[in-house]
Amino acid sequence: MDIVADITELYKENNWKEIIHRYHDHPERNKVLWVYPSEDNFDFVKNCLAELSCERVVSVGCGSGLLEWMITQATGVPVSGIEVDGAWWRCKYAPPTFIPLHFTPAEIDQDTITLLQRNNNTAILFCYFNNRKAFEDYLMYYKGNVLIIIGPHKIGVHTDPKPFDDVTDDWALYKSQEIRNSGDYIAVYTKQNI
Ligand SMILES: C[S@@+](CC[C@H](N)C(=O)[O-])C[C@H]1O[C@@H](n2cnc3c(N)ncnc32)[C@H](O)[C@@H]1O
Repeated sequence: MDIVADITELYKENNWKEIIHRYHDHPERNKVLWVYPSEDNFDFVKNCLAELSCERVVSVGCGSGLLEWMITQATGVPVSGIEVDGAWWRCKYAPPTFIPLHFTPAEIDQDTITLLQRNNNTAILFCYFNNRKAFEDYLMYYKGNVLIIIGPHKIGVHTDPKPFDDVTDDWALYKSQEIRNSGDYIAVYTKQNI
C-alpha cells in the first residue's frame, strides 16, 4: 500500500506505534515526516516535558503535523502546529495533515504571536526547520522557557538551526538524545537567567 494512505489508516486507528515501527526506515518516509522517533525517544520527550512542567507544545514548521500528533498520543501533552501560509498546502501534492495547522504569513502576524504567548508553560519545537531568520523571529516573540530542536547532527543533511551549537547564550542544553541510531538528535534547551 502507498505509504501516505497506510499512515493515514494507522492514524485513524490511533496506532502511532505501528507508524514508527513500520516506517522509520522506509525509503519514502520523508513524504510525510523527516524523523520517526522510537518509543524510547517519545518517553524521553515525555519525561523532559514533565520535568520542565510543560503543559503544551507549539511546533513551528510542523509540516504534516504527524510528529506533533504522535507526541500528543505518546505524552498526553497537546501540541499545536504553525506553518507558513502558501500555495503548497492547497496543492494536490501536499501531504495530508494530522493536526489542524495554524497558518502564518512569512512575517509573523498577531494571531501567531498570540498563539506563541498563550501560556508560559508552553515549549517551542522546531523539527528539521530550515529558516534561520524565522527561527530568531519566533524566539523573539516566544516567552516560555523550553526550546526543543530536532534535526541532523551529521554530514550531508542541513537544517537551520541544527540541534547543537546554533542557539544563543540565553539557552542552556538541558538534555539530548539521538533518534534511534540515525544521526538525528532531540535537543532540549532551557532559558537562562529567568
Ligand atoms: C523540512 S520541513 C520540516 C517539516 C516537519 N517539521 C518535519 O519534520 O517533517 C520545514 C518546514 O518549515 C516550514 N517553514 C519554513 N519557514 C517557516 C516559517 N517562517 N514559519 C512557519 N513554518 C515555516 C516549511 O513550510 C516546512 O514545512
